[in-house]
Amino acid sequence: MVKIGDIQLGEFPILLAPMEDVSDPPFRKICKRFGVDLMYTEFISSEGLIRDAVKSTKKLDIFDSERPIGIQIFGGNEDSMKKAVEIVSEVKPDIIDINYGCPVKKVTCKGAGAGILQDIPKMVRLTDLIVKSTNIPVTVKTRLGWDEQSMYIVEVAEKLQDVGIQAISIHGRTRKQMYKGNADWTLIEKTKQNPRLHIPVFGNGDIFSAEDVKRKKDFSNVDGVMIGRGSIGYPWLFNEIKYYLKNGVLPPPPSIKERINIVKEHLDLSIKWKGEKLGILEMRRHYSNYFRGYKGIKNYRIKLVTSNCISEIHEALYEIKTNIN
Ligand SMILES: Cc1cc2nc3c(=O)[nH]c(=O)nc-3n(C[C@H](O)[C@H](O)[C@H](O)COP(=O)(O)O)c2cc1C
Repeated sequence: MVKIGDIQLGEFPILLAPMEDVSDPPFRKICKRFGVDLMYTEFISSEGLIRDAVKSTKKLDIFDSERPIGIQIFGGNEDSMKKAVEIVSEVKPDIIDINYGCPVKKVTCKGAGAGILQDIPKMVRLTDLIVKSTNIPVTVKTRLGWDEQSMYIVEVAEKLQDVGIQAISIHGRTRKQMYKGNADWTLIEKTKQNPRLHIPVFGNGDIFSAEDVKRKKDFSNVDGVMIGRGSIGYPWLFNEIKYYLKNGVLPPPPSIKERINIVKEHLDLSIKWKGEKLGILEMRRHYSNYFRGYKGIKNYRIKLVTSNCISEIHEALYEIKTNIN
């Protein structure tokens, strides 16, 4: 049984990765229904939380039906991170996750996200401070290292464990790689092999199918996997993985009707959560994934991603249901 603190996550948990503008409450609600074991919020800026910025504080909204859920924060300033942890602790997430993986320049240049991989002593100090500032279990999500010359993840994981983190998720790329090339699970496997490491290690990077999970699980012996892009437009993946690991075969894929029902629900939740304008806009990144692989979808997809009108979107969905299979 994999555990983070007192939270029991089953034999081989499947995690939803934190994804900005994707893993919001509407998407999380759908992923939860499809069997995800642990979810994280989008990353939240510690500076934004302290300033009480609406964009940041809205991301603190979590619901009992989502538990167990982790709130992810980022920042490079120790005082701000400490204050942010106090703010986050008040909403009582099951887990607080620290983002040491974001490769975006405006984050890394402040020593936040993956930027901290250039200063491991600071990373350890900051983590220590955060763990000591809260009673909530702290986890870390990070990358292999800053670049190929500094892939210290095996040592880093142990150091972070020693200051009290309770699990680590490792994206098998360096910061320099951003999202390019293939995720390399070799060092994830090495980290897991370290006999001194007893906290759960979750592997992350390039999981798009249940077969990917089986291969990467067998190779690396990780305690669970975290999935980002593979779940966008395909939340069925979580249950599919569980079914495949248990039975060795894939369940039948969702029909076009099932997909459309979920798209409608997702759109509806999105509009309720964000208002009509933003709800419609932010659904656009999901459509092509929901209908990936279907022949003849292109014109309908264009309508879906250009329309600002709910009834037009429903019309396009109806046309897909009647014309595509
Ligand atoms: C749209 C998008 C937004 C992301 N936002 C975050 C984030 O807020 N926090 C974080 O730790 N990682 C973020 N990531 C990285 C993912 O959590 C994950 O590590 C990465 O996509 C690799 O996993 P995958 O191959 O399963 O997608 C984001 C990735 C994408 C594609």
